[in-house]
Amino acid sequence: MRVSSTIRLILTVGTAWGLSLTLFHTPVFAAGDAAAGESKAALCAACHGPDGNSVSAEFPKIAGQIPGYVAAQLAAYKSGARDNAIMKGLVLTLSEQDMQDIDAFYAEFETSKASISEAEVSAAKRGREIYRVGLTQYSVPACMACHGPAGDGIPARYPKVSGQFKEYLVATLMEFKSGKRVNEEMNTIAFRLTTEQIEDLAGYMQGLD
Ligand code: HEC
Ligand code: HEC
Repeated sequence: MRVSSTIRLILTVGTAWGLSLTLFHTPVFAAGDAAAGESKAALCAACHGPDGNSVSAEFPKIAGQIPGYVAAQLAAYKSGARDNAIMKGLVLTLSEQDMQDIDAFYAEFETSKASISEAEVSAAKRGREIYRVGLTQYSVPACMACHGPAGDGIPARYPKVSGQFKEYLVATLMEFKSGKRVNEEMNTIAFRLTTEQIEDLAGYMQGLD
């Protein structure tokens, strides 16, 4: 395919484009109050870090997400639409305003960078191919069509996926695949991916910035 041969050697392109999205991030779109969100987010720091950059791969990074995504996920945990025992217990007492404020607070930070180890490079290259081109024969669209070439997402619709822990990316894509995590667009896509392709994609996205 013509497109793939031109991008073969480039592991992370589109940074400039991603940066322009990052710059216009929060102040324009966030409905919440970041200052109020800071104290409301105090109990989140134990797992997600003081700035939303979790230190352990057990907990996803929530810093620098597109405005509205964190609040939407908190609401989904609260209603049970997204099923996770740890998060459910933590959001029960949060109001809609609390969720918006917490959302605004975390959106102010940048996602911490991660790098791909030498051993992970070939898997990441396979993942990059799917991320950028898709799998035409299986009707899997290019991930970058929605999540952007640098994985920054598209406010306020498609979440950021770059720089996230590989373990979390694999786990959540497997949940989309099985239908445990419900989202029409992602369920259809993940269902068509093999476990190996999911691992390759996660290996690529963790190093995107
Ligand atoms: C005891 C650890 C713990 C604490 C405290 C915690 N979380 Fe989480 N959080 C998790 C885990 C584990 C997941 C992954 C759950 C899953 O896979 O659905 C998660 C997932 C999330 C997600 C989804 C991320 C994504 O990319 O979709 C958001 C948003 C989130 N947490 C926000 C918060 C906020 C806000 C607080 C404080 C009110 C908080 N968390 C407190 C452990 C924690
Ligand atoms: C048609 C648009 C679209 C395409 C194409 C798409 N996604 Fe998504 N993706 C979404 C939406 C919408 C969500 C948010 C789902 C939700 O709110 O639960 C999402 C969520 C995700 C998440 C979860 C982020 C988090 O923090 O929990 C991951 C990971 C992801 N997508 C990976 C991929 C990969 C890998 C591909 C390509 C194989 C892909 N997506 C293609 C629309 C898309």
